[in-house]
Formats: sequence, structure tokens, C-alpha cells
Amino acid sequence: MTFLAEHFNLFRGLHIIAVIAWMAGMLYLPRLYVYHCRATPGSEMDATFQEMEVKLLRIIINPAMIATWLFGLCLIAGDAQMRPGGWAFLLTPWMLTKLAGVILLSGWHGFLAGARRRFANGTNSRSEKFWRMSNELPFLAAVVMVLAVTTEFVF
Ligand code: HEM
Repeated sequence: MTFLAEHFNLFRGLHIIAVIAWMAGMLYLPRLYVYHCRATPGSEMDATFQEMEVKLLRIIINPAMIATWLFGLCLIAGDAQMRPGGWAFLLTPWMLTKLAGVILLSGWHGFLAGARRRFANGTNSRSEKFWRMSNELPFLAAVVMVLAVTTEFVF
């Protein structure tokens, strides 16, 4: 058995820890954007939000996404070695659902990073209501993904 298959459960644990950090950051950042909408560009409040947002993104969200992907890819390689059908599990309904969620969350991550830059140069055009409403989307995606990977549903 290779290193990845031998330490599969360690990678699964590290993967879940990274997922928790990524999701926590991605649920918190739009909350900052909700209140940042009330700050006048160039004001002290604006500067404080900018500092909080850039630190949250660079110290927590970005590293957590990289770790989630890294350990997730290790798990894919480990699964391909351990599962009877090898790589075929990637085309099962539950894994396809999971991977669709991964692409959605990674895209949302990119959108949030772009929004931070727009707040920083005073060009955010999204409303407080938009950030409040859209904040639930990643959580809904995570619910579907966690249920998909734990139930391994098939039609
Ligand atoms: C970023 C890319 C990701 C990849 C490539 C990936 C891939 C995987 C793979 C291959 C497994 C092992 C499945 C198994 O054989 O049991 C796994 C487990 C898991 N993943 Fe991910 N994943 C990713 C992101 C996420 C995200 C964003 C979430 C949650 C929102 C998540 C939640 C989980 C959970 C909870 C498990 C453990 C399931 C169990 O132990 O039964 N993953 N992931």
C-alpha cells in the first residue's frame, strides 16, 4: 500500500480541518462587507474594514483553500488506489456532486477576493442586502457536499 493509502485517515482529518477554516472565513468575510457598505470611502472605519478583510483573506481563507485542495487531491489519489474501481469513483453521482460544489466554492472564493479589491479602491457596487443574502450560498453548498461525501449516494 502506498503512503497516501496508508495515511488516508490522517489526510481525511487534515482535509476536514482545512475545510472548517475555509468555510468559516468564507462565511465571515461577506459579513464584514455588509457593514463595510456603511463606511465612507477614505474614512477611518473604511480603513479598519480594509485591514480586517485583507488579513482574513491572506492569513486564513487563502491558506485554508490551498490546504483543502491539497489534502483533497491526496484523498483522490488515495481513493484511486484503495477503491476496487480505481479512478472510476470520480464519476459516481456523489463525487460529481461534491466536485461541482468544489468548483462553486472556489469560484465564490475568487469573487470574494475581487470584491475585497473593489472595496479597497472604493468601487464596490454591491449593496448591503446583496452581501447579507448571498452569504448563505456557501453554507448551502457545504451541506450538499458533506451529505454527498458521507452518504456516497447512488441513484
Ligand atoms: C477543494 C477540493 C476538494 C477535493 C478535491 C475533495 C476531495 C475529497 C475526497 C476524495 C474525499 C474522500 C472521500 C472518501 O473516499 O471518503 C473527501 C472527504 C471529505 N470531504 Fe472533500 N474535497 C474537497 C473540498 C471539500 C469541501 C469544500 C468540503 C466541505 C464543504 C469537503 C468535505 C469533505 C468531508 C466532510 C469529507 C470526509 C467524508 C468522510 O469521511 O466520510 N471537501 N474530500
